[in-house]
Amino acid sequence: MNMIPYSLSINGVTDADAFATRYEKLPVKVANSAVEASKVIASRIAEMIRQRSTEGKNLVLGLATGSTPIHVYNELIRIHKEEGLSFSNVVTFNLDEYYSLHPEHSQSYHHFMWERLFRHIDIPAENINIPKGDLPLEEVNAFCKTYEIKIKEAGGIDIQLLGIGRTGHIGFNEPGSALNSRTRLVTLDRLTRIDTSDSFNGEENVPKYAITMGVGTIMAAREIFLMAWGEGKASIIQKAVEEPITDTIPTSYLQNHPNTFIILDRAAAIELTRFKTPWLVSTCEWNDRLIRKAVLWLCLKVQKPILKLSERDYNDNGMSDLITEHGPFSKINIDVFNDLQHTITGWPGGKPGVDDSTRPERALPYPKRVVLFSPHPDDDVISMGGTFARLVEQKHNVHVAYQTSGSIAVSDDDALRYIDFVTNFEDIFDIKDFEAEKIYQKTAEYYKHKNKESIEPGELLAIKAAIRKGEARASCRYIGLPEENVHFLNLPFYESGTVKKNPAGEADILITMEFLRKIKPHQIYAAGDLRDPHGTHRVCIDIIIEALHRMIDDEWFKDCRIWFYRGAWQEWELDMVDMAVPLSPEEVEIKRNAIFRHQSQKDGAMFMGSDKREFWQRAEERNRNTARLYDKFGMAEYEAIEVFVRYTVD
Ligand code: F6R
Repeated sequence: MNMIPYSLSINGVTDADAFATRYEKLPVKVANSAVEASKVIASRIAEMIRQRSTEGKNLVLGLATGSTPIHVYNELIRIHKEEGLSFSNVVTFNLDEYYSLHPEHSQSYHHFMWERLFRHIDIPAENINIPKGDLPLEEVNAFCKTYEIKIKEAGGIDIQLLGIGRTGHIGFNEPGSALNSRTRLVTLDRLTRIDTSDSFNGEENVPKYAITMGVGTIMAAREIFLMAWGEGKASIIQKAVEEPITDTIPTSYLQNHPNTFIILDRAAAIELTRFKTPWLVSTCEWNDRLIRKAVLWLCLKVQKPILKLSERDYNDNGMSDLITEHGPFSKINIDVFNDLQHTITGWPGGKPGVDDSTRPERALPYPKRVVLFSPHPDDDVISMGGTFARLVEQKHNVHVAYQTSGSIAVSDDDALRYIDFVTNFEDIFDIKDFEAEKIYQKTAEYYKHKNKESIEPGELLAIKAAIRKGEARASCRYIGLPEENVHFLNLPFYESGTVKKNPAGEADILITMEFLRKIKPHQIYAAGDLRDPHGTHRVCIDIIIEALHRMIDDEWFKDCRIWFYRGAWQEWELDMVDMAVPLSPEEVEIKRNAIFRHQSQKDGAMFMGSDKREFWQRAEERNRNTARLYDKFGMAEYEAIEVFVRYTVD
């Protein structure tokens, strides 16, 4: 059986539709990537537009906003521009709009739709319908009724596009919405507001209400495509697709719609039973990793360590097939125990002078040249601070490369505080024409009047970047890394000046290649943590992977191993882990102190996502939890463990 090997979008996996099962109550299609899936949906829409056009009829589209449908809109624009598809016979109805945002507001769905689609195609403006977010309250009801009538008069929605919120909402039909609900004013769920808080510069600025088509309105569409990308959606997708219909997950209502298709990328599909516990679904093609996954799952299910699992445990839990193929059970127990045991090492750079045949890293060369890529200037210590310190202590030649400046995550207040501090230099060093006081006054004035729409001047962003640079250098100093081994790549994709980043480009890849060719590392550590709220980690890993692919024939690369860490936002599943580095209580403290050096990211940093714990707390809890799991499976008991997955470029 073909498994999703990692929840990254970079490993090949074949279409798993053949394994669709009784667990799934909706037709689910798993694509290789969001872009690939979106192209299929866009071409279905294009086909319908053409068909209707030859019949002299309109096509009525129900449209969504948010990050999910963007690739579909890009592809529709491409088809319009390159293949001449006309949208003159298309009528659109958008699902929703924030109340009470003016259509011109940069976060309004009006603005989104015009920017992302309408102004690039030839759709007549009078064919576009989007709920109006700026109506007086007393006019909202009448507007909603008219919206419903307009949909009916247009002939009903032919194709409806949907995303899904982490609350399980479709449109803004939050938990509790009724099956027969129609277009109306609704209150947004707290989780929904948290999820959009970054685009509004904080939860307190997110509108509390929205006007949305109802579940009943959506269910009346003839054909529905619900898309979901990324691991952040995996859990709610599993519930909506596999669990019984309930009003607490409005998406589950779609189970009763005759023509709905759920389209996922591989990351959004990982919680589905066919991927999570495939042995419960059909016969599996067992390999070492799948066996480890199944056995660890069984341990947690029956609450026993590996070596105490009995034949009956296997048989009672849908794993007799495994025993038949790879048994006896005692051999499976021992094999998996050894396999997991061999992931543990206190020598992440390899232990010189010992047999390394069952160790995760080779002994030689020693010392190794190591590159630790850190997407933001703190992921290195948050995610692998203990391992980082060990590599330095074990005398490897470690280089840290901070990929982005991280400037936008520094608060205005911090920037001002630093400038204020520098004003003292005039007196201390008797500098006459420094004018720091002037800069301070000017900045204070700017921040006083800054609003959500302001684009921050470059020099203030540079000050914020400098703050993070200073923190990163302090943290490396604390770990004992020589200053010349601390590198700031300042990848250009990040420097958009706003929360929204540019896509990765050639310049980013070339900078990365040049850096790697200079160091010629034997080991590379990089963040495979794809759940950060703004997608920076994903772009950073894509850049590294592209760079590595281009250098596959370099001599140094033949002797280089790549390790992916995770940390601030999520942790690897233990069935995927190739290397586990235990931390003593003292090392946990060293790691904490190194994270503390990133002061601008402490005490309520700007972009914490929905998890309000500070980064050091998240890291410690995760590392302790991993140690607890190893302990539960019957390994030695450690204070904390950092884990890594080996990545091979092919
Ligand atoms: C947007 C909408 C919402 C989004 C959902 C997912 O018009 O109705 O239901 O589809 O919140 O948002 P993203 O795509 O940003 O993850």
